[in-house]
Amino acid sequence: MNKRILTGITTTGTPHIGNYLGAIKPALELASDFDESFFFLADYHAIIKNSNRNEIEQSVKDVALSWLASGLDPAQSFFYRQSDVPEILELSWILNCVTAKGLMNRSHAYKAATALNTSDEDKGISMGLFSYPVLMAADILIFNATHVPVGPDQMQHLEMTRDIAGKFNHSYKKIFELPEAITQEADQIILGQDGRKMSKSYKNIIPLLSTEKVLKKSIAKIVTNSLEPGDPKDFNNCSVFSLYCHFSSDDEQSDLKESYKNGISWGDAKNKLFEKVNEHIIPIRESYNSLNSNKDLINELLAEGSAKVRPMAKELLLEVRDSIGISRIS
Ligand code: TRP
Repeated sequence: MNKRILTGITTTGTPHIGNYLGAIKPALELASDFDESFFFLADYHAIIKNSNRNEIEQSVKDVALSWLASGLDPAQSFFYRQSDVPEILELSWILNCVTAKGLMNRSHAYKAATALNTSDEDKGISMGLFSYPVLMAADILIFNATHVPVGPDQMQHLEMTRDIAGKFNHSYKKIFELPEAITQEADQIILGQDGRKMSKSYKNIIPLLSTEKVLKKSIAKIVTNSLEPGDPKDFNNCSVFSLYCHFSSDDEQSDLKESYKNGISWGDAKNKLFEKVNEHIIPIRESYNSLNSNKDLINELLAEGSAKVRPMAKELLLEVRDSIGISRIS
């Protein structure tokens, strides 16, 4: 059995440093341990929460270019757009028919959305949001991925995928592998400007694809305490130090710890962080700009990507259809 790693990136917004450190970089590093890697742009997931066509279109491009600029090699990995592989949606419907509604009722994402409602608990809840774990299961199962890197928020969805796969295998035919989660450590949570997890919805992000000037400004906005230059500072629970650690060597981190004890000013600490982040991002920024200047390249790459994966998806779907009795009449 080939070891296949697969991950989807929902195309909402423009990737920030948190996405880069928490998802893009670790996924690309993991890929080398696997026989095959699948990275896809989850644009049908994106329309669950966003109905602005221009934002969706822009985000697909930004996310695709960010992954490529960060080092994704489309010759080594399968890189495609979910909507270019319609077999995923077909499988999704079939899986919907073996998925218990009660299983979906227990989804954290759905429960969190209904919890915000007061009188009508279903207000603003689409069927897309409700059955989103089934689409995610189809994404994974269509290629029989063996491993899926997930953050803590996606853990439950992977368990649901295993449930759904098991139910299908039991009801019809053993077609699906039960995928395993590759979990991230809790200390891998990337902190944003306000010390909470970096997230677009908290408006606390540091951008990945900005100019140096904008990067510097957004680092300057990291919230610190009011200790003066010369006052010893604590590097524990400090967003500046925590972010610095993701871009520096052990020696550099020891040096900065020393400087904290010796009362480095917040301005200087932030400058050190800026220098490190910027140095790391320069090649990504340059690669992004050059990819971005070739308008046809991205469409060509994505067309090649789906051309490579669709035959696999078609083959699996044919087997699924046959196993449920949707096949040529004999
Ligand atoms: N739901 C995931 C997220 O919001 C994205 C995603 C869609 C995904 N399909 C997937 C991740 C399949 C892993 C495997 O982050």
